Amino acid sequence: MRIDIISVLPEMLDSFINLSIVARARKKGLVEIYVHNLRDYTEDKHRRVDDYPYGGFAGMVMQCQPIDACISKLCRERHYDEIIFTTPDGEQFDQPMANELSLKENIIILCGHYKGVDYRIREHLITREISIGDYVLTGGELAAAAITDSVVRLLPGAIGDAESALSDSFQDHLLSAPVYTRPQDYKGWKVPDILLSGNEAKIAEWEQQQSFERTKRLRPDLLEK
Ligand code: ADE
Repeated sequence: MRIDIISVLPEMLDSFINLSIVARARKKGLVEIYVHNLRDYTEDKHRRVDDYPYGGFAGMVMQCQPIDACISKLCRERHYDEIIFTTPDGEQFDQPMANELSLKENIIILCGHYKGVDYRIREHLITREISIGDYVLTGGELAAAAITDSVVRLLPGAIGDAESALSDSFQDHLLSAPVYTRPQDYKGWKVPDILLSGNEAKIAEWEQQQSFERTKRLRPDLLEK
């Protein structure tokens, strides 16, 4: 898989793509991630990529030209399955969407900034608009990082235990059961006896029951799905 991220703040994404599971997946050749500085594509001599909005509204708007130049260059080099724009008014990102994106070959993520992008970019170039939640970030980089992280960890071989991605919260519209590690007794706080019983069938039953109870208590909306 290949992910191209277009940003006015590429430094914000540097540490993210060079650390942890994402970095390991890159080293293993499971994913290629490239961050493109939008300013490298502007024809403006001051390297500006934004301008005032028509209509006298507040805030600045990202201009068509540099975004079109960057996306067009990438699209001349290979086919992209999705050209994503991160924006608070997009489709709400969730686990099924992460699963779906993890099956794509090549995707572009354009990070929004300022008051947004010239709407013509959204109409003519973007294939999907994604929000990571009902709150406004100063830029789309954190959203691009969240999307990339959740997609990359699903790639076969990205995380050690293949099963653990499947047992994540949300994978089956249920929250995960609680997990524990050594010691069995910490300051009198005990690990549930059932997990120490060695009875696999009973443990699996407990896990399902816990998962269901936690979902019912904390996220009843998920059970409606
Ligand atoms: N840009 C600013 N806020 C955002 C959000 N909630 N999701 C995606 N992109 C954003």
